[in-house]
Amino acid sequence: MKKQVISLSVILLLAMAGLTLQAQSTKASAKANIIINADLGKDVISRDIYGHFSEHLGHCIYGGYYVGEDSGIPNTRGIRNDIVEALKKSGIPNLRWPGGCFADEYHWMDGIGPKEQRPKMINTHWGGVTEDNSFGTHEFLDLCEQMNAEPYICGNVGSGMVEEMSKWVEYINSDAVSPMADLRRANGRENSWGVKYWGVGNENWGCGGNMRPEFYADQFRRFATYCRNYGDNRLLKIAGGSHDRNYEWTEVMMKEIPHNMMWGLSLHHYMTEWGNKGSATKFGEDEYFRTLRFAVNFGSLLDGQIAIMDRYDPRNRVALVVDEWGTWWDVEPGTNPGFLYQQNTLRDAFVAGIALNDFNERCRRIKMANIAQTVNVLQAMVLTEGEKMILTPTYHVFEMYKVHQDATLLPLDLETDYDYEFDGEKLQAISASASRDKEGAIHVSLVNIHPLQAADVFIDFRGQEVSSVTGRILTAPELSSHNTFEKPDAVKPESFTGAKLSKNRLAMKMPAKSIVVLEIK
Ligand code: AHR
Repeated sequence: MKKQVISLSVILLLAMAGLTLQAQSTKASAKANIIINADLGKDVISRDIYGHFSEHLGHCIYGGYYVGEDSGIPNTRGIRNDIVEALKKSGIPNLRWPGGCFADEYHWMDGIGPKEQRPKMINTHWGGVTEDNSFGTHEFLDLCEQMNAEPYICGNVGSGMVEEMSKWVEYINSDAVSPMADLRRANGRENSWGVKYWGVGNENWGCGGNMRPEFYADQFRRFATYCRNYGDNRLLKIAGGSHDRNYEWTEVMMKEIPHNMMWGLSLHHYMTEWGNKGSATKFGEDEYFRTLRFAVNFGSLLDGQIAIMDRYDPRNRVALVVDEWGTWWDVEPGTNPGFLYQQNTLRDAFVAGIALNDFNERCRRIKMANIAQTVNVLQAMVLTEGEKMILTPTYHVFEMYKVHQDATLLPLDLETDYDYEFDGEKLQAISASASRDKEGAIHVSLVNIHPLQAADVFIDFRGQEVSSVTGRILTAPELSSHNTFEKPDAVKPESFTGAKLSKNRLAMKMPAKSIVVLEIK
């Protein structure tokens, strides 16, 4: 198709609007044809793909979720009501805790019993601050109950003992007469919590003990043996997995750990250039493109990891659990470098939208994912300042996409020559995913990362008659648009009326730099 270089007047207009877009080119026509195979759905998109991660880091827990019972900020047993309400609204299905790197130096017994008697420790990983252990097992499980989210606890392998982890599981899950169950009752909780998801260490190739894969695989076997099932509850044990395109670790885990011992194997991927992360809000097009390259390439990274799992586990018994993912920028100026506090723009929303589409598409193997880290840390859903709380663009993506939770994935064919080109390099501009919910409604989530060009998107529905369409859109004037405590609604979803249906074919003009979620019936 004929390319036309964007005119000087457009560049001038953009410059006047304060945009930093430079060497852009647009096409005369940008088209994407999608066929949704509505009769071929078989895999269910686990709601847990939309999971979250929260660590004892910066103001994620303290000054984030947890303000203490005496706070003037409305709370329930010390947990902020506004955060609970916001996360419930976005459909948070599960929450991973207490780390991260913190998990492998956390001793759970320090976080139970009367608060004034709980020992204090230094959080050596994150800012060297004093951790007073006032938020421990009971508080975390209370938070999960308030949000109706499944808890996912990550135990300490790096500096912990088998006995310690084994007793933690007993404390939480046993209803028998036993030393740990009795201790829990003495601490005010009669019934066990029935926690299902259990991580056996975190990043054990790094902060979780600097282990070699073979050594960790043996450690996993040993620790997991003593993490028992209590009553009817089945513990779903998750092995500390690899990161990025490190395939060796995955291969050793799949080879050395019996598959009936390991419900899941984790994977971490941060979409950042280490050593040159850049600002969350002040970035040029080169940095925008670089970030979106990470996002667009995430699918092939996942496929590489899944291919290894498929080789060792053709019956698809072990889940891939992407339990840390997201963007990681320089901290906001003037904030503690160990607290990882960052703003969140439309760029972050695109990363989330593409990643969630990728997870949906691979839901046969990916059963859980947890964005890092929900409140005030990394790619957060909410940011707080005193009693104020704002929702980030990433929050809105999760809220818009929640329609995919527990829906049946509908395989789609996406054909497009519509690329986002920068500095001689191309990225596919459109990402999409579709599912059908239990009531029969089809949902399609689409991301257009092109900063300037709208796309003509046509969707053909094969195998199901459809007659109505509604939609929502997330976009903003600039790629760096974000919500602030002064302007909390600068980026928020609006209704989208640009899609028309005729004879089982949908046609829409998808605006540049936007995310659209359609409901088709
Ligand atoms: O999310 C921040 C840190 O990133 C986690 O503690 C660790 O697991 C990862 O390296």
